[in-house]
Amino acid sequence: MSRFVEDVSRTVSPGERVLDAGAGEAPYRLLFRGARYVGLDDGRGDPRWDYTGLNVSGDLLAMPLASASFDHVICTETLEHLSDPQGFLVEVARVLRPGGHLHLSAPLSFKEHQQPHDYFRYTRYGLALLLERAGFEAVSVEPEGGYFRYLGDKIQPAHRYLFAKDRALVWKIVFLILQPFSMLLFTVLLPALCAALDPLDSKRVHTTGFLVTARRPERV
Ligand SMILES: C[S@@+](CC[C@H](N)C(=O)[O-])C[C@H]1O[C@@H](n2cnc3c(N)ncnc32)[C@H](O)[C@@H]1O
Repeated sequence: MSRFVEDVSRTVSPGERVLDAGAGEAPYRLLFRGARYVGLDDGRGDPRWDYTGLNVSGDLLAMPLASASFDHVICTETLEHLSDPQGFLVEVARVLRPGGHLHLSAPLSFKEHQQPHDYFRYTRYGLALLLERAGFEAVSVEPEGGYFRYLGDKIQPAHRYLFAKDRALVWKIVFLILQPFSMLLFTVLLPALCAALDPLDSKRVHTTGFLVTARRPERV
């Protein structure tokens, strides 16, 4: 994900206006220090997060922002949390200037998180449909890796489930000796092997999610 946002930041000219829609703890703010960065969120996602670095507190479905006021909108791992994704994309098109760009990531396969505000997962066709209906053009939807990367992502929690804290004492003792091997296998070795094998999958229908770029047309 951060590689995607780094690539986006290289396309942003100094002084351009960048909206981070659903910024959370604004992990990408520093990438845009040459630009005029605005982080917007309403803080509903995670009570343990530090939302104090936001510039604007507001609902993504009715953003308290002027029309045509941004050159770029970035939105990472947030679309699945919105009850009205189509309405949100129409709002993004409104706040972008004509010719401005949206850079978005959205999951196809990810565990439930930030419950209960977790509503949808997306295929590439669903994303393209929503974007076209919101009036975007030059839509590009790229998978974030293929089958092996997906597998590497899915295998990592195995260690946590095997060595869950609520196991009976006898199992805890048996597992004590196995725990370091399990951690090495599931969280280091297998994910590294999967990452190395990922280029072997050219179909990319098993993927963790998609990276999207789209443009608001110059003329509507
Ligand atoms: C999974 S986090 C992603 C945060 C950040 N973009 C990142 O990549 O680390 C989703 C964020 O969307 C915010 N959010 C969800 N629904 C929202 C809404 N309707 N209006 C404003 N923010 C919302 C949550 O508060 C949360 O911070």
